[in-house]
Amino acid sequence: MTFENIILEKQDGVGVITLHRPKALNALCAALIDEMGIALDDLESDDAIGCILVTGSEKTFAAGADIKEMKDKTFQQAYGEDFITKGWERLSQTRKPVIAAVAGYALGGGCEIAMMCDFILAADTAKFGQPEITIGTIPGSGGTQRLTRFVGKSKAMELCLTGRMMDAEEAERAGLVARVVPAAELQEEAMKTARKIAGLSRPVVLMAKEAVNRAFETTLAEGVKFERRLFHATFALEDQKEGMAAFAEKRAPAWKNR
Ligand code: HXC
Repeated sequence: MTFENIILEKQDGVGVITLHRPKALNALCAALIDEMGIALDDLESDDAIGCILVTGSEKTFAAGADIKEMKDKTFQQAYGEDFITKGWERLSQTRKPVIAAVAGYALGGGCEIAMMCDFILAADTAKFGQPEITIGTIPGSGGTQRLTRFVGKSKAMELCLTGRMMDAEEAERAGLVARVVPAAELQEEAMKTARKIAGLSRPVVLMAKEAVNRAFETTLAEGVKFERRLFHATFALEDQKEGMAAFAEKRAPAWKNR
């Protein structure tokens, strides 16, 4: 499949979506978001794919929504077409695991896209921020909500009110990113992590993702109950039998993905 604003590759069970608008620092125009939706649909329906990686270039993950494209929109247009929500949320609805591998700028919508992924691996060059306030608007695709859940009110508020960027080290300390690696190793490390996930039992991976996400949607008691039900459900899978038998027999499991 060929696209104009992204590159889609498949390798070792991993689907890689590379944001690719180098002249605009990967600014997220409508066409790019549409293409990402098509790529995600393709990867979700491809049985060979067990994990998805979203990445950008060495200099930029994404510098936000395309300012030039949206600057003249009226309220009626923005509200009428449900600007930004449509299409963008596709990423957060992905059932297969999605890793964001971020180097350079992840600003505005770029930071929001990264936060819609299941976890973020960051290069030591990464810079995160919600600078919308400096161009007369506010985050529009979950920035004020997801960032606050990741890093807490105080830091989220400071970042959203000032537009300040935080570097990778601060982002890791604050709980926004899972791990920071040297920039030169980011792609290799992200692929290694994605391959590892893609090589595990598919239904069990989906259940683990669903259970962790439940923590954001419900009370602790309900979440624990939900987790318990899925945990019990794994015992109906051939893969649970295989995984535990393989451990007892001191061999590698051969997942049946059932
Ligand atoms: C459109 C953009 C862009 C953007 C950069 N470019 N960011 N075009 N939308 N978000 C374009 C520039 O206009 C320029 O094009 C080219 O990319 C290179 O950018 P420079 O500014 O020359 O690069 P540099 O000096 O290295 O500065 C990098 C930067 C800066 C700090 C990231 O570009 C910047 O501040 N960008 C805007 C960041 C931002 O405000 N993001 C939030 C957007 S609002 P030309 O043609 O001049 O070479 C948003 C709302 C989300 O995301 C709402 C819901 C999703």
